[in-house]
Amino acid sequence: MKFNLRAYRFNPEIDEKPYFKEYTLEDYPGMTVLNALIKIKAETDGTLSFRRSCRSAICGSCAMKINGISKLACKTQVSSEIEKFGTVSVEPLSNMPVIRDLIIDQESFFDKIKEIKPYLLGQREDDGREGFHILKEGEKISQPVYYKSEFKNLTGNNDTPNCILCECCYSECGGVTGNAKYLGPAALAKLYRYSEDPRDNDKNGSRLVNGSKPDGMWDCVHCQACEEFCPKGISPVRTIVKMHERTIKNSVIFSKGAKHVISIAKSIGETGRLDEVKVAFESGGISGLINDLPMAFGAGLKGKIPPIRLKLIKDMDDIRLAYKELDLEEK
Ligand code: FES
Repeated sequence: MKFNLRAYRFNPEIDEKPYFKEYTLEDYPGMTVLNALIKIKAETDGTLSFRRSCRSAICGSCAMKINGISKLACKTQVSSEIEKFGTVSVEPLSNMPVIRDLIIDQESFFDKIKEIKPYLLGQREDDGREGFHILKEGEKISQPVYYKSEFKNLTGNNDTPNCILCECCYSECGGVTGNAKYLGPAALAKLYRYSEDPRDNDKNGSRLVNGSKPDGMWDCVHCQACEEFCPKGISPVRTIVKMHERTIKNSVIFSKGAKHVISIAKSIGETGRLDEVKVAFESGGISGLINDLPMAFGAGLKGKIPPIRLKLIKDMDDIRLAYKELDLEEK
């Protein structure tokens, strides 16, 4: 069956602005979008540019937007796209500048990955287990023993070691779209992955401290897009929530984000409602309050600020009771 493939084209050396070019191809059973692009490049238009390598959904190179959704081209069947959309339209990933056609500049993405130190830190102390000890100079390498249970936080639904750095989550992340400095889901999932690795010995929790800074884990907007679009079934947003819990438990509470969460919980627990002014003050102090003024003013103009004298909310005590039941302070 014949189908049309619409490809985003842009060569900054000759094009004033991007445009779409349409190609007509013959589909065959099992044809992937990457197969189609390779066929176009080999037989019709050698100038069409895109990245690819493994063709097995393990290198992450071929990520692009297919019919508006960030996907791996080598994992996406032409037939299923035609079935859903009636056509195949390919564009470069979002949230990164385009170099040419479907090739994006990955520098900002990988700079953020480097920032979270994606390697094991320190040296684990000898805990006396058979097969594990710190090597002495000149000593032959012996393999430390680790037990499967020690990796429990890295497997199952949150299989963060499976991340192939394809950038699909980064491309779909609303947090990155709103704030280009935000680390983004892939870097934060890596941060979690190394923090939870039993072989890591980041004694003073420098990764979590780093990840708690502005533009880090507290700037996640919880849009869940990273979970929805990860081609490997990883849920970065769930790892981010776990890190929130850990940073609060580990008293890494100097960051505005952590203080904000604690203040919200306190406000609801004590009064059964959200005292926005108090929360703003407790999260960022006087300077935080001043910084929030323009936003508060803008919200006020749009009628989004609750009246100063709140009427007593019916069943307010029930909210306080529910809070107590949840025992949020303990968590
Ligand atoms: S080519 Fe490697 S993931 Fe698609």
